[in-house]
Amino acid sequence: MTTASAPGKIILFGEHAVVYGRPAVATAIDKRIYVETDFTEKSPYESSYISSIKDSQSYSSKKGIIIQYYDKSRLSYTKNDITSGQEHDVYKSEIRDERPTFYQSNKYLQESVDIVLKKAEMMGNTEIKDCVLKIVTKSELPISSGLGSSGALCVALIKSLSSLFGLDLDNKEIAQMGWEIERNVQGFASGIDPFVSTYGGIIHYNNGCFDRIDIDDQIDLNFLIIHSGKNSSTKDMVKRVAELKTRFPNTVNKIFDAIGVVTEEAVDILYNLIKGKPSKRSSKLEHLQLLGSLLCINQGLLESLGVSTLELSNLFYRSLRYGALGAKLTGSGGGGCLISLYPPSTDMATIFEDYTTLKCRISPNGVMIEK
Ligand code: PMV
Repeated sequence: MTTASAPGKIILFGEHAVVYGRPAVATAIDKRIYVETDFTEKSPYESSYISSIKDSQSYSSKKGIIIQYYDKSRLSYTKNDITSGQEHDVYKSEIRDERPTFYQSNKYLQESVDIVLKKAEMMGNTEIKDCVLKIVTKSELPISSGLGSSGALCVALIKSLSSLFGLDLDNKEIAQMGWEIERNVQGFASGIDPFVSTYGGIIHYNNGCFDRIDIDDQIDLNFLIIHSGKNSSTKDMVKRVAELKTRFPNTVNKIFDAIGVVTEEAVDILYNLIKGKPSKRSSKLEHLQLLGSLLCINQGLLESLGVSTLELSNLFYRSLRYGALGAKLTGSGGGGCLISLYPPSTDMATIFEDYTTLKCRISPNGVMIEK
């Protein structure tokens, strides 16, 4: 048995434009998906909680996968049901959803299994022939909310399975595999999610190349994540932007360019904040104010691409009204979450008591095998 985990992410700047070769910057967060994998004797066709891969042409009837979810994402939203703290243990004891579920994450899940099995077979691993796999996922991330749950699931599953099969996959291979899966499922994908989930930390990303901005525990970017209450599909939103680009290529390319410029300006500020370690409080606050302004500009540009929603825009203005330095939607939009940047040590969660909020810290930790 082996368990791996990988973090979710927030895109700070550059979503959508990054699919078309512009830079983006994203950070891993301290909310993770855990994936346990094991060989099992149980037949996938006898069990009541099976999600077998019998539909997949490439597998013999003996092979199968048993999937158990202990997963927040199976729950419908209730007010404030994602908060920082002990959720993970709570899921374990209280939520045991064993129904076969073919939600969006399953396509990512099946593609992930597929790609690792193929790799193992290519490398002459015979142990996996006709195996039945048991996969248990535990999630601290809501799905379809712009927080990279699919990318984290793929990366954690690839890591866990490759360790189970004795494959020695490095991070580069894991991230590239995650990107391939995203492309297969979504059509277009920049790869930023699997790269951030694999490497952790703050990633300045462009088309498979990236700089990792090293962070330490002192970094105090006080982001609040607010869920708009509506889920969204990355695939649909990416498609919608692609259609807009087909209709208005010049305009949309200029918007992408502008997002790229905003991202680069933000990266300079982030480097100064993190590496320059401004000594005076005021100087740090000034940096954060600049970052906040850029978040707002990025939000405006995302609005112009049509990926914001009434709920997200309302949350945006509410954030600013109650002291945020800046805010923007994060991820593909059309629902999902808004990120709101606050001055250090301010606790703004109470302002959004009628919404689900997630307080998280940015995290240097990428994919890992759990002890
Ligand atoms: O909604 P998420 O977390 O899957 O983020 C998608 C980010 C996009 O830029 C819209 C797509 C991509 O592949 O980069």
